[in-house]
Parts: sequence; structure tokens; C-alpha cells
Amino acid sequence: MKILATGLSGLVGSRFTELLGDKYQFGEISRSSGVDITDANSVYKAINSSLSTTVLHLAAKTNVDGCEKDKETDKDLLDKKGDFTNRDTAWAINVWGTKNIVEACKKTGKKLIYVSTDFVFDGKKNAYTERDIPNPINWYAKTKYEGEKLVQDSGLSWIIARTAYPYRAVFERRDFVRVLLDRLYRHERLAMVTDHIMVPTFIDDIVNALDVLIGMEDTGIFHVVGNQPLSPYEAALKIAREFELDESMIYKTTRKEYFDDKAPRPFYLNLKNDKITKLGIRMSTFDEGLREVKSQIDSIHI
Ligand SMILES: NC(=O)c1ccc[n+]([C@@H]2O[C@H](COP(=O)([O-])OP(=O)(O)OC[C@H]3O[C@@H](n4cnc5c(N)ncnc54)[C@H](OP(=O)(O)O)[C@@H]3O)[C@@H](O)[C@H]2O)c1
Repeated sequence: MKILATGLSGLVGSRFTELLGDKYQFGEISRSSGVDITDANSVYKAINSSLSTTVLHLAAKTNVDGCEKDKETDKDLLDKKGDFTNRDTAWAINVWGTKNIVEACKKTGKKLIYVSTDFVFDGKKNAYTERDIPNPINWYAKTKYEGEKLVQDSGLSWIIARTAYPYRAVFERRDFVRVLLDRLYRHERLAMVTDHIMVPTFIDDIVNALDVLIGMEDTGIFHVVGNQPLSPYEAALKIAREFELDESMIYKTTRKEYFDDKAPRPFYLNLKNDKITKLGIRMSTFDEGLREVKSQIDSIHI
């Protein structure tokens, strides 16, 4: 089966090709293959020439603080109704780029799967289902939510898969689990936030869920997240225990201290995954995911 995708060199996308390389023949829309998603013409050519009936859209500018720095430039260009082609800002990649993908899918009649984020919510509720209305509080989230709206208004067959805090065993760019692991191995002091709630998601589970969603007829939003909401402080303790590292290096801090000079973050991001669970998709708890990460790392070092 052929599948055309953006973002296959990224943290999530590269695991998709690793795990499903035998099932899918991948077509890639990427800068290294000559297609910048901010360029409508080249996006259309790539999508139109592909035999895949589905486009999986993972590409994004994902650095939250980097995106926040783009805010003024983006707003200025938006006010001037300027052209975002070949620009590297959050709006250019996450909104303009998504618009180009949506328009090309409309012209060619392809199904679109858009990967989004838990950050579209403001974190003021105890829990979020797919029926809750987003209210982004930073520029990264705002641009991802604008992308969601373009997808929902497209009239296409579409799926929005929102994920959160993805982690995996091996990749050149370190996710939050491996950042913490490295620091624990170096015996560094870790100040971890206690008053923020997240739902870490094992990337192998995301890949499995996307595989199921690709094969489904339905249109809709799905929360593709793990099964265990917890604070970064609790997460760090679990990592230390699973890898038998010194947990006395982990200290408590608050959001106010930690995020003082950074982009605003939503506080309580407890996304519920009941909708995908009812489809029979199994998402790991953080404990289960960590065990699997450790086992995969150990198997490499044997
Ligand atoms: N990472 C997270 O914490 C997180 C959390 C929730 C949701 N998500 C969502 O999950 C998806 C995948 O995230 P990720 O962490 O795997 O991303 P990532 O590792 O940051 O990779 C981003 C991908 O987007 C591609 N890309 C960026 N700008 C592009 C452009 N102008 N034209 C073509 N390709 C471009 C990059 O390709 P190059 O090789 O050319 O740079 C790369 O493959 C994103 O949509 C993100 O919003 C991520």
C-alpha cells in the first residue's frame, strides 16, 4: 500500500517508516526531496503525482519557544497579507504549509490525516475529550489549531490525530524522556515541575494508532495519547526508577519558576483517549512505555 507523508524525517515520522516499512511504500514530501510545504506549486505536484489515496501530514515547526519568537514577524506579514512561501516561521510552516496540503488534497481527492497537539487546549479543564473546543495560549498552539480548522473546513475525508509528549527509545533528536535520562546519567540536578499535568505518549503506540486511522472510513478528531496523566516531577521519578538511577537528584519546582522566560504553557493537559480505545487501539501507560523503551535500548547494547 502506498502512503504519501510529510515530516518522515522527524521524531514521530521516522518511527513510522521504521515500524511500517514492510506494510507501506512511502512517498515523501520533504525539503530534502525538494518540496518545502510552504510552496503550493511543489506541494500540488508531489500530491498530484502520487498514487497514494491518503496524505499523512506530520511536518510542522514544533519548537514551542522558537515558534513564540516568530509571532511578531508572522503577525506583521499577516497584516500586510503577505506571502509565506519559503519562509521558516510557525505560521508559514504550520498554517500556510497545511493550507497548501489541504488545497492539493481537495484538487486530487485524497484523504488527509493531520497530526496535531494537546497544546491546542488552554489547560483550564480537568480533562479534555475530542468534543472540547480548543483555546490555544501560545503561538505554536495557535498555528497548529489554525491548521486543524483548515482541515476540518476542507470538505475532505479527514482525521485529526492529537498527540502529546511523544517519546521513544532511539532518535537523533532527544525527546523529554531521553533528555531527562541523559541528565540523570550525568548525575545532574533536575528541577521538575509539580503543577503541570501531561499525558506522555509512547511513539510506537502513535504509529500503531495512525496505522489504524489510515485504514478507517470515518472523519473526525482522535486523541492519540498515553494512558497515564502525570506531572513532569512524577515522570522523572518513574524514569529514574525504571533505569535504576539516582532519584535523589530530582527536585520539585513550580511552573512559575521553570517557565519564567519561556512561551506560556497550558497547565492541566489531561487528554482522554477513550475514543481510540473503543476502536480497540491499545495505548500504553507511562510505566509500560518506559519498560519498553528500556528493553529496546538494552537490546541495542547487548
Ligand atoms: N514533538 C512533540 O512534542 C509533539 C507533541 C504533540 C504533537 N506533535 C505533532 O506531531 C507532529 C510530528 O512532530 P515531530 O516531533 O515528529 O516533529 P519534528 O521531529 O520536529 O520534525 C518536523 C518534521 O517536519 C518537517 N518540516 C518542517 N518544516 C518543513 C517544511 N517547510 N517543508 C517540509 N517539511 C518540513 C521536518 O523536515 P526537515 O527534515 O526538512 O527539517 C521534519 O521531518 C507535528 O505535527 C507536531 O505538531 C509533536
